[in-house]
Amino acid sequence: MGKLQLLKKQVLNCKKCDLYKKRTNPVIGEGSLNAKVMFIGEAPGFNEDKKGKPFVGQAGKILDKLLNSINLKREDIYITNILKCKPPQNRDPTSEEIKACTPYLDQQIEIIKPKIICCLGNFATNFIMKKFNLKEKIQGISKIHEKLFSTSTLNGVIKIIPMYHPAVATYDISKFNVLKKDFEKIK
Ligand code: URA
Ligand code: SF4
Repeated sequence: MGKLQLLKKQVLNCKKCDLYKKRTNPVIGEGSLNAKVMFIGEAPGFNEDKKGKPFVGQAGKILDKLLNSINLKREDIYITNILKCKPPQNRDPTSEEIKACTPYLDQQIEIIKPKIICCLGNFATNFIMKKFNLKEKIQGISKIHEKLFSTSTLNGVIKIIPMYHPAVATYDISKFNVLKKDFEKIK
């Protein structure tokens, strides 16, 4: 069994935090195992929980438009989240949940070895920047989205691009253009 298959099996059976009790399906992630670009969101929402797939609701539609604007397809990239199970009422992930769940994300990064990590929103940005020793450079997403970071790892240099979470564009249309501009950096 491949490493990612093994990970899937672990997540499907995971009870490391209380979110397992109310999930319909955990959302592990999907995309190319050879992806150079990895997108990390926050947590599954209603639609993702129903389907077991990442970004299939409103935020997903926006993500698709943004990907399309730089000629990337979902098959070219890998998409996952900080948490694999849906928090109730879309509330923020707790630090306990993040601590329990992110070893799975660490493994996904290890397996896929992306060259670029796009952090969608504050939770992904904070986790990834801490992980790659950029903690002192963390700022709120409204400031940090204009920046791009590099980190040297055993698997080579990884670029880190913090962005607004695409869901913000569902209630603030001006953010769509900000996101679009930030997506240009991926090219
Ligand atoms: N929002 C996220 O952060 N992730 C999803 O998969 C869907 C919506
Ligand atoms: Fe396990 Fe993560 Fe789901 Fe919690 S959110 S039960 S740690 S897979």
